Amino acid sequence: MAGAVTLLLGVLVASVCAEDMRQVPLKSVTALSAVGTVNSALLDRCNGETFTGIDVFGTKILDVVASPVQNYSTTYMDQTYAGLNFCNVTVTYTHPGRDDEVHVFATLPLTGWNGRFQGRGGGGFITGVDAAVLAPVTAQGFAAASTDGGHALYDQSAESWALNSPGNINWNLLEDYAYKSLGDMTLIGQQLTTQFFSKSPKYSYWTGCSTGGRQGLVFAQRYPDLYDGILALAPAINLEGFVVAEYYPQHVMNRMGHYPLPCELNAIADAAIKACDSIDGVEDGVISLPSICKFDPETLVGKEFDCDGEKGKFSKEGAVVAKAFWQGPASPADPEKWYWYGVNRGTPFNGMAGTTCANASASSCSGSPFVVSEEYLRLFQQKDPAFVTTNMTDDEYFSMFHRSAQEYGSMLSTSDPDLSLFKAHGGKMITWHGLADELIPVNGSSKYYQQVMDLDKDVADYYRYFEAPGVYHCFGGPGPRPEEDETLAALMAWVENGTVPETLAARSQTGDGAVRELCLYPQTLVYVGGEPEKSESWGCR
Ligand SMILES: *[C@@H]1O[C@H](CO)[C@@H](O)[C@H](O)[C@H]1NC(C)=O
Ligand SMILES: *[C@@H]1O[C@H](CO)[C@@H](O)[C@H](O)[C@H]1NC(C)=O
Ligand SMILES: *[C@@H]1O[C@H](CO)[C@@H](O)[C@H](O)[C@H]1NC(C)=O
Ligand SMILES: *[C@@H]1O[C@H](CO)[C@@H](O)[C@H](O)[C@H]1NC(C)=O
Ligand SMILES: *[C@@H]1O[C@H](CO)[C@@H](O)[C@H](O)[C@H]1NC(C)=O
Ligand SMILES: *[C@@H]1O[C@H](CO)[C@@H](O)[C@H](O)[C@H]1NC(C)=O
Repeated sequence: MAGAVTLLLGVLVASVCAEDMRQVPLKSVTALSAVGTVNSALLDRCNGETFTGIDVFGTKILDVVASPVQNYSTTYMDQTYAGLNFCNVTVTYTHPGRDDEVHVFATLPLTGWNGRFQGRGGGGFITGVDAAVLAPVTAQGFAAASTDGGHALYDQSAESWALNSPGNINWNLLEDYAYKSLGDMTLIGQQLTTQFFSKSPKYSYWTGCSTGGRQGLVFAQRYPDLYDGILALAPAINLEGFVVAEYYPQHVMNRMGHYPLPCELNAIADAAIKACDSIDGVEDGVISLPSICKFDPETLVGKEFDCDGEKGKFSKEGAVVAKAFWQGPASPADPEKWYWYGVNRGTPFNGMAGTTCANASASSCSGSPFVVSEEYLRLFQQKDPAFVTTNMTDDEYFSMFHRSAQEYGSMLSTSDPDLSLFKAHGGKMITWHGLADELIPVNGSSKYYQQVMDLDKDVADYYRYFEAPGVYHCFGGPGPRPEEDETLAALMAWVENGTVPETLAARSQTGDGAVRELCLYPQTLVYVGGEPEKSESWGCR
């Protein structure tokens, strides 16, 4: 997978694995508003002079570059956008004394502004996106902005910025990534919008998945009055904990010295789906109620699986990896101690438990950890670029959970359940998380929602959480998924009209036309009879 060129958000990002913590794609677009005759007054105003008054406490603006982009076309997640007209603004600033240089990217429609501002998030170690990826957001009428967080824009690796030198964390850039650049970006983006249109945005929205979802929670917790509506999707919440847990299946394989073939692991996932698919009442390749699926991988050992036409036999080691993946980290020295959740059965192994092989023999395989997880252990925990994670002892590995919480909890965790200031501001937030998420165990989201609920039983008045059966990390998977424009429309209707999203519409990703109304947590989706593709065949319990 290394060296592969993957289309992520319409941007060519070299060397990014397909499983990288993803940003939100915008799929079907209803109406394009930044298309058509440009407003000539706005066209004239699209230059650096217009934006000289940007002023955000703690920052020093170094440069503002603005120029019109007309008749722009781009392809973004299967959707082609043409004839877009916007003002492309780049703000460069520093935090005096911190030796950083951060960029804010903004696209302001030259026609058809809908009066709203939208901030957009990043994925993995990528803090945000640039004008090319914001253009489709602006196509729908939003003034949009994002930030590079002060490090290389589309570099999924933190290798270039994590350390000042071996042993020494670059705290300034880590803090920029964690939250500081997000608050700045929003204030700068809102000021750019106000100066350009001579009118402040009526509403501000945040959209992000994965790291972008964590960033959404950053706003609700740390900057509770910047956004009216937040989509915090499949959030990388409790980053300092789950990202260590994300490495656990790799650690188990390293300790065994055995890396099963990807097709064996795929066959285990398929066997789990086959065993548990029908317990929700419908055979559709989706485990809708994964918590009652108790499939035991040891029942497979010795049986045959098909590997691209060649037969293989399920190994004992494969069953060990599956258990580790599903149960989550457990130290042999203290098996009762809980570190973090595993994933639901049926989730693809390739995110956390990936292996790569030279040929069809397992002896040619090695581990293929998720880059963020491997780098977190090596760069942020060990602070040593030369550290070899494959050689860790159990003690070394399990001690990282405690050390990580000690060192980074307050900066990265984003798990403060007290949302009272966001509630008082009148903000509304929606989170959905795929029940087959292969990179971020979904129970981190339900745990957080439960904690918010424990503090405030009226949480559903301003924050709603939905689980999506059979959906992978941010997108993909056999299950119907909430589409961004529809989810954002539901959030806007809640914020602007008080229309409460009782359920969340999700649509098939496989072309079978299935529609589901996802249930407000802690209710779950249950089949009540009828054609499984139709939403009325499902209810919430
Ligand atoms: C806009 O771009 C398209 C190609 O994307 C081109 O065919 C068309 O002529 C352009 N229109 C104008 C007015 O420049
Ligand atoms: C926007 O402006 C920046 C800085 O001038 C430039 O690098 C980038 O290519 C522009 N983006 C588009 C989509 O025109
Ligand atoms: C997630 O939480 C649910 C509800 O508490 C539980 O039934 C399920 O086993 C948990 N799943 C994992 C993978 O930990
Ligand atoms: C598979 O690859 C390994 C390591 O590259 C090699 O040692 C082994 O001989 C290969 N086996 C076959 C059957 O090609
Ligand atoms: C990792 O462990 C193996 C086996 O014990 C050893 O041969 C190798 O030198 C170690 N590598 C490093 C970088 O410590
Ligand atoms: C609010 O309701 C009005 C009247 O039904 C409708 O036209 C408008 O689109 C709604 N706004 C949102 C953001 O849904």
